[in-house]
Amino acid sequence: MTRIRQALISDLDKIYKLEQECFISPWTMELLLLDIFGSEFNVYYVIEDEDGVFGYIGLNTILDEAHIRKLCIAEEKRRKGHATALLQFAEKKMAENGMYALTLEVREHNQPAIRLYESFGFTPEGIRKDYYGNGEGAVIMWKRDIQCRKS
Ligand SMILES: CC(C)(COP(=O)(O)OP(=O)(O)OC[C@H]1O[C@@H](n2cnc3c(N)ncnc32)[C@H](O)[C@@H]1OP(=O)(O)O)[C@@H](O)C(=O)NCCC(=O)NCCS
Repeated sequence: MTRIRQALISDLDKIYKLEQECFISPWTMELLLLDIFGSEFNVYYVIEDEDGVFGYIGLNTILDEAHIRKLCIAEEKRRKGHATALLQFAEKKMAENGMYALTLEVREHNQPAIRLYESFGFTPEGIRKDYYGNGEGAVIMWKRDIQCRKS
């Protein structure tokens, strides 16, 4: 059975391992530690089953908007709806905490992620050119009115 909960300091090693496996430019342990636990404006949730944590989502809140900073699922657990479940959980938490919109940047060549976000109701609203420093741009995506969708 899967469960989603807020990340604990004891999850850091597993999050770091997933980060190295899932991202082209993974963050260091120090950066993850600071981002997950160093700011009252950031919150990370993990998804786990009987084998342990296999994915996470990280958000930063700015006034009434939440910025998705990280989302990943271990390769062997993909295409089973787990990222969607993390997004649903995070959206509900953000709406309960007064946020009205979710936003993120995603590599323009990351089609799996772009498809995922589109299937979850995000729409592309712009491009940050050469955002990743290798010529690749970032697609800026938004999902607005998440409070309205709840009522
Ligand atoms: C992107 C990622 C989080 C998706 O996780 P996931 O658990 O496989 O996603 P879901 O099972 O919830 O997928 C939901 C929908 O998204 C789309 N999708 C997800 N992966 C896809 C892929 N590889 N190709 C095409 N569409 C995909 C599909 O519409 C899918 O629905 P379907 O399986 O019924 O067709 C995962 O591939 C990952 O961790 N990638 C590496 C890290 C990353 O790129 N993170 C995003 C950075 S912004």
